[in-house]
Amino acid sequence: MKMERQSPGRGRRWAASVVAVVLAGCQGPFPQTTFDPITSIGRDIDNLFMLVFGLAVFVFVLVEAALIWVLIKYRARPGAPDPKPIHGHTTLEIAWTLAPAFIIALIAIPTISTIWEEAADPPPDALQIDVIGHQWWWEFRYPDLNVVTANELHMPVGRPVVLNMTSADVIHSFWGPRFTGKRDLMLGRTTRLSFTPDSIGDYSGQCAEYCGASHANMRFRMMVDDSTDFEAWVTRQRSGPPDLGALTPLQQRGLEVYRAVRDPASNSCLACHTVQGISAGVLGPNLTHMGSRTTIAGGILQNTPEGLAGWLRDPAAVKPGSLMPNVGLTEEEIDALVAFLLALE
Ligand code: CUA
Repeated sequence: MKMERQSPGRGRRWAASVVAVVLAGCQGPFPQTTFDPITSIGRDIDNLFMLVFGLAVFVFVLVEAALIWVLIKYRARPGAPDPKPIHGHTTLEIAWTLAPAFIIALIAIPTISTIWEEAADPPPDALQIDVIGHQWWWEFRYPDLNVVTANELHMPVGRPVVLNMTSADVIHSFWGPRFTGKRDLMLGRTTRLSFTPDSIGDYSGQCAEYCGASHANMRFRMMVDDSTDFEAWVTRQRSGPPDLGALTPLQQRGLEVYRAVRDPASNSCLACHTVQGISAGVLGPNLTHMGSRTTIAGGILQNTPEGLAGWLRDPAAVKPGSLMPNVGLTEEEIDALVAFLLALE
């Protein structure tokens, strides 16, 4: 039988494509990298990973080299005698028991100390933040500061933070890759994460436990502010209900749309959302200061008139399975509602 020969260029083109695809993974930026931590616990976890990875590479190279050496040295040759089987080699058996035990100990000691460090009680002056996972958005409450917000977690740089986390429905997992590891949020239980961010910036996070149709859209941002910016943010979030007297006619119209009781009543904005002084719904994000956030809809849309209008027009088109219904707003109602909501700073 005659073998079909590939044209010589084809294999090379294949190899070039594979190399291109692999190298494409080396281009930044990597907003959710775990290799550039900004907390001390994050660095310890990273160091632990590097240690385990380094040992794994060492063992891999050693085993593969031994395998190749054996394959070459003891390969079948014409006329060679059968190899002599070895049985019960005490030195070898001790060696291959002790060597792995030593490697396991090298991994276990720093692993256990990192687990203890991670589980240690946070300092008493740590900033307490309650995190509640919802399908599919994040609620952040600062009980000591009397602040409630959604999807954007603000923290002052250099101060220890404790996240006391639970869920309003299914299991979610809080993952801020540059801060620390993942941790699940469960209904009826409180789990905790603690860290001290040491670098100012705007970092992304993501739900890391499959929680339904829009799991991948359950994102959040972690904003590490300098102390002045953080204080300013807190002051703004604590400022009372919006001054309804100062609304423009369009914003007034938006307030009317917001307040309208629709049929069914669960389709009304105020059934699910809180705007201090206007409504007290708890199923969706608190909107009292929503104009001060940079993103909406679980962090997937920019909080701009266009982003917000797109969201109000058809939430499920942006976030499949969204619990926010399409309430059938007209374009006129959407324009007014956008103007009103963005005025809530
Ligand atoms: Cu929440 Cu995945």
